[in-house]
Amino acid sequence: MDKLEIRGGRRLDGEVIISGAKNAALPILAGALLADAPVILKKVPHLRDVTTTVKLLRRMGVDVVFHDGVRLEIDPRGIAEFLAPYELVKTMRASILVLGPLLARFGWADVSLPGGCAIGARPVDLHVAGLRAMGADISIEQGYIRARASRLKGTRIVLDTVSVTGTENLLMAAVLARGETVIENAAREPEITDLANFLVAMGARIEGAGTDTIHVDGVDALSGTEYTVLPDRIEGGTYLVAGAITGGTVRINQTCPEHLDAVLAKLDEAGADLTIGEDWIALDMAGRRPRAVDLSTAPYPAFPTDMQAQFCALNAIGEGAGTVTETIFENRFMHAQELQRMGADLTVKGNTAVTRGVDELKGAPVMATDLRASASLVLAGLAASGVTIVDRIYHIDRGYECIEEKLSQLGADIRRIPG
Ligand code: EPZ
Repeated sequence: MDKLEIRGGRRLDGEVIISGAKNAALPILAGALLADAPVILKKVPHLRDVTTTVKLLRRMGVDVVFHDGVRLEIDPRGIAEFLAPYELVKTMRASILVLGPLLARFGWADVSLPGGCAIGARPVDLHVAGLRAMGADISIEQGYIRARASRLKGTRIVLDTVSVTGTENLLMAAVLARGETVIENAAREPEITDLANFLVAMGARIEGAGTDTIHVDGVDALSGTEYTVLPDRIEGGTYLVAGAITGGTVRINQTCPEHLDAVLAKLDEAGADLTIGEDWIALDMAGRRPRAVDLSTAPYPAFPTDMQAQFCALNAIGEGAGTVTETIFENRFMHAQELQRMGADLTVKGNTAVTRGVDELKGAPVMATDLRASASLVLAGLAASGVTIVDRIYHIDRGYECIEEKLSQLGADIRRIPG
């Protein structure tokens, strides 16, 4: 397995371009199944999770072609089977996102239950309940969701819990359903708005995406379209923390500042000087030590759970004590013990990580356990004295495009050790 070797203690300075958002690209790739003609996508990030999704689509008989490495063409007209097998779904739970489109477009879907992952049980009961409410006949057999529907019918759905992919699956099911669907207590993440914009570009009729109530008027068919995926706000936030944790000056380009309000507020509290442009954000922490902050994760527009681990690393070297409370997932502090091995004074009590900032972290061999935990270990390694070896970085390759190239561009001493 590949590892990342980081020689820390160097200040990061410079600019990086932010890639397309993983958590928008994945539902949009699934949404292409709804079209009756080819779809062209731009700014699809080159990530393991995207590769896995493309593999899944091709396995179904969907034609997927990368043109000149920039445009991804998806032609669903050759689809031959409606199956998402366990061996693929177990590597990427977001495969569940093909369930709604397959059911809406073809009336047939056999999708493996994703199973849990490092950060929690990750149930999909809300996805299934919503589709059943739309008239799908769904049974759970031998670890698979077997879903059938002549034609889904629009209805009013109230999600018990705010669920990002739950909202996305039901939105994609609703666009070809008969009649109106209202999704209440919908997730409001920018990636949902991006998916909705993509579906509208194909001819869907959607109002209210980005709010907690989404109205969909079902149509009979969706055409092909060309669409550009929005920038990855979590990748952007991660590079800003890289600047803050090393006392540097980092500017992220081709981003959407308005999608990072809650993160920017915490970086400001940590003492960073921030300049916000139209599509860029500059962070200046030149030579200063961050102040530790208190935060609690919650659904958008509140502080994102996907930035929680990164702020645990920042607090580890911050001035004073900080608390990070995780309210979305039940086991999202896997990075804690690895940070402790690097000298962090961090204690997890229930769903809160309490940190007392130390003057210096020490490089050490550490192991990545999930995507954002890996990011926090890389950030800690950048700040630590000595060498940090992050193992199992296939986790990080799921969600960060060219991470060592982008960090090297900012002055980090980092290299990939093929394993
Ligand atoms: C999406 O996961 C993201 N993944 C996650 O990003 C992100 O952390 C999460 O939303 C929260 O923002 C993608 O978009 C591909 P949820 P998702 O359904 O949709 C419970 C990353 O690092 N729930 O919003 O799976 C669930 O257990 C990844 O990029 C149910 O109970 O998360 C959790 O407690 C990690 N039943 C809460 O809802 C359901 O049917 C929110 O989960 C569905 C969810």
